[in-house]
Amino acid sequence: METKVGSGLGIDYTGMMSSLQNQSGFARGDLLNLQKDLDLAQSSLEVRREAGEIDFSKLLVSMKTQIPEIVDYANAVASKFDNFVVLGIGGSALGPLAVHQALNHYYYNELPPEKRSNRPRLYVVDNIDPVRFNELLQILDPRKTLFNVISKSGNTSETMAQFLIVRDILRNECGDSYGEHIVVTTDREKGNLLPIALKEGFQRFVIPLGIGGRFSELTPVGLLAAAVCGIDINQLLKGALDMDQWIREKQGVFANPAQLRAALAYLSGQKGKNISVFMPYADGLKTMADWYAQLWAESLGKRYDRQGRIVQVGQTPVKALGVTDQHSQVQLYVEGPDDKVITFVTVEKFKETQVIPLDSKLPEDIHFLGGRTLEELVSAEQTATEYALTLAGRQHQRIILPSLEAYTVGQLLLLLEWETAYMGELLNINAFDQPGVEEGKNGTYALMGRKGYEARRQEIAEYAKTRYLLYS
Ligand code: PA5
Repeated sequence: METKVGSGLGIDYTGMMSSLQNQSGFARGDLLNLQKDLDLAQSSLEVRREAGEIDFSKLLVSMKTQIPEIVDYANAVASKFDNFVVLGIGGSALGPLAVHQALNHYYYNELPPEKRSNRPRLYVVDNIDPVRFNELLQILDPRKTLFNVISKSGNTSETMAQFLIVRDILRNECGDSYGEHIVVTTDREKGNLLPIALKEGFQRFVIPLGIGGRFSELTPVGLLAAAVCGIDINQLLKGALDMDQWIREKQGVFANPAQLRAALAYLSGQKGKNISVFMPYADGLKTMADWYAQLWAESLGKRYDRQGRIVQVGQTPVKALGVTDQHSQVQLYVEGPDDKVITFVTVEKFKETQVIPLDSKLPEDIHFLGGRTLEELVSAEQTATEYALTLAGRQHQRIILPSLEAYTVGQLLLLLEWETAYMGELLNINAFDQPGVEEGKNGTYALMGRKGYEARRQEIAEYAKTRYLLYS
């Protein structure tokens, strides 16, 4: 029953289906019953694609043509700067971070320059915690640093605040050449960042139309940082394009991985499983879980359906890491409320291996570890957890990556994006907007005194008058 494509990414959904050990799983018929809805979802996504709204394929192809420009620029700056700092938040930060952690050396920044091909260290600063921001500025020499300001809207308070602070420092430290230390990634036409970039002559990359923040990793948002660190962005895009093709060409829930994953998520949601746990068994995918959580939460957590009826849908994404969280969250998953569905992500072949030494003089009870590898131990722990969940009647599935490399990461990104799009259609909501986020942004503008937001400021002041507090 396993869906496979060549030697690339695979999905094992045995743990979602009924079996001798797991009576609470689905039957094939449950999935087949959804086929009509999936076909409708497919056509509706097709319409959106035609309208240029979510054209992943066109986007990926057009990105391929931009690769030489991105790579040339990345190589030029890589030899000039010691540090590359991404200033952005949400979709403008989580993708670059996830790909960096998945594909670069885990301690990339700590490596001596020659061990990272003399490429800059990479920092992704999403939050505006003043301590962290200040402490980062303390360790960076601005004259040797390139800042990549990323904002699709060109208005987000956090990113604009970071930009203003950095621009000021650069102007003081680098004088007239400060503009050479800033590269802006933003919309082609809109936002406040664009006119500043044009006026001050910053290098600029464009986020294509119709691509929301969380779907923009495979645009200059993510590709530039990846290329600066020497990641093979051709392979990243190739993996994504191959996955896109698989999803567009293979019809039917048992052949199409995005339909399959969306159908399983939808059915589990209907059974009251309102929590979707994403649990990779590789430290390199820890921040991929952050990226997935944003994608799932912001795309699918919606109050209204397409007809404007209140539906309040969306599974809550939870990030976990194997094996670490076996000693933290797994107890809850096995024995707590049956309201979760777990996606493991496993890597078949790690890029490093580590043999556990054998010492026959040590207590016999630990001899079993000797001569085995950490890879084997990780795999055994994942299988054991999977089995414990199965025995407890808890649903789970697994995304299998043959190895963690640019190609498979590209595949994974596109699979998760497409399944989110399908899930949005099954839920009959718009997965591509984020009115709840905008609400927060508007409140911030109001509180910080932005012109045009006076009424909202007044409202919040009224709300803040009544407080229930307890202090020591
Ligand atoms: O996915 C999204 O649309 C959001 O998470 C945005 O990426 C985030 O709010 C930052 O927005 P912007 O890139 O416009 O600064």
